[in-house]
Amino acid sequence: MTVTCVIGLQWGDEAKGKIVDLLTEAHDVVVRYQGGSNAGHTVVTGGKTYKLSLVPSGILRPGVQCVVTGGVVLNPASLLEEMGRLRSAGVEIGKNLMISRRAHVIFPWHMEEERVLDARVASDKSIGTTMRGIGPCYRDKVGRSNAIRLGDMYRPEFHDQVARIVEHKNLTLKALATNVDFKPLDAEAIFAEYSQYAAQLQPHVCDTTEYLLDAVESGQHVLFEGAQGALLDIDHGTFPYVTSSNSSGVGIPAGSGVPGKYLDKVIGVLKAYSTRVGGGPFPTELDNELGQTIRDRGNEYGTVTGRPRRCGWFDAVAARYAARLSGVDVLVISLLDVLSTVGDLKICVEYKLDGKRLDCFPSHVDDLKRVAPVYETLPGWDAEISDVRRYEDLPENARAYLSRISEVVGRPVEIVSVGADREQTLFADDAAAASYVPR
Ligand code: IMO
Ligand code: MG
Repeated sequence: MTVTCVIGLQWGDEAKGKIVDLLTEAHDVVVRYQGGSNAGHTVVTGGKTYKLSLVPSGILRPGVQCVVTGGVVLNPASLLEEMGRLRSAGVEIGKNLMISRRAHVIFPWHMEEERVLDARVASDKSIGTTMRGIGPCYRDKVGRSNAIRLGDMYRPEFHDQVARIVEHKNLTLKALATNVDFKPLDAEAIFAEYSQYAAQLQPHVCDTTEYLLDAVESGQHVLFEGAQGALLDIDHGTFPYVTSSNSSGVGIPAGSGVPGKYLDKVIGVLKAYSTRVGGGPFPTELDNELGQTIRDRGNEYGTVTGRPRRCGWFDAVAARYAARLSGVDVLVISLLDVLSTVGDLKICVEYKLDGKRLDCFPSHVDDLKRVAPVYETLPGWDAEISDVRRYEDLPENARAYLSRISEVVGRPVEIVSVGADREQTLFADDAAAASYVPR
């Protein structure tokens, strides 16, 4: 296998960072290809915890080339802050970080736009975004006339581009800010600030599309690191409660420029239960004491915004849809340890709408809000499992729970994670373990 992809199959926060970290030593290149600093990836390695957002998790391994492609929306201030933080922790960042000059840049007007527009939406209709300017930046990308890409910041027109866009944004934002304060943006200050960022980032800026095409054509081992999860995909997720990029497997070719035919293995990461941050339908949500128990046991609070995550039962209907959509070959089930001691467990195996079984995942949010999940109940297990180191040593009920998940999602389980540490990783069999061995 030369090209591997790690995709979240729920609404984000599936512990993708840990799996990417496990795989990096078997790869030459690690690629972030969509999203931006809405992502929060936690990697525990060598006894240290690293929080990553825009920088690919491969940065923690010397000799691994990290690439941020043009499909990403880039906030230079947060990227530089993250690079600084990593460097202070002893991580080397030099030529091992490449950033596409095609990446669209997040400016202060994007954050302002998100704040001003969100204030005009009734709270029960709010998407509950991370407020990082992700949506407004992708909107400008698609709209084209007010977009600035990283490569534009090194060209003579940059100053005038900023001045023209700031004039436009000040006009529209002032008119829309009827219920919040809005201080007009200062084009000269923004130009000066961003010119400094451009200078600091320059050593990393290049054509990542050509680089990655060369890499896959020459048989290098490339790892694609998905951010968010398939159910937050702009086209195929629970629209409009989604993020603004293709966060399912379909986003890899578009975001990176690498044709889909090169993708050899797609790993879908699923929590042993479900979580979601922000608004939107969540059929298996446990808005009760049990949900709180899972939140506490799983420390389900957002890495980026600190918000408590909504928790619920494993939704096999949604997971199966997400796995098919992302071309998933094998599953990783994370945070299984969280379910120890909680009692009987439920898996949603079917949705009913108005008493009728649905044979596809609903495309409209109002239908998804109304579906009645049909559950199967499986016995839980009483022992804590975070010290278990071999798959076969898991309690029988835990193994039965995993088998049932695998059956209904329709994919084999290759890895089970019982904690954030590397050692807390159980491989289903020797063949699975072999594919994670450093080359
Ligand atoms: P990682 O990579 C969980 C959610 C937000 C909100 C919606 C839209 O850590 O799994 P946005 O700011 O992207 O426009 O917000 O998407 N969201 C995430 N939820 N994990 C993430 O990333 C997320 N990135 C965005 O909470 O509901
Ligand atoms: Mg996260």
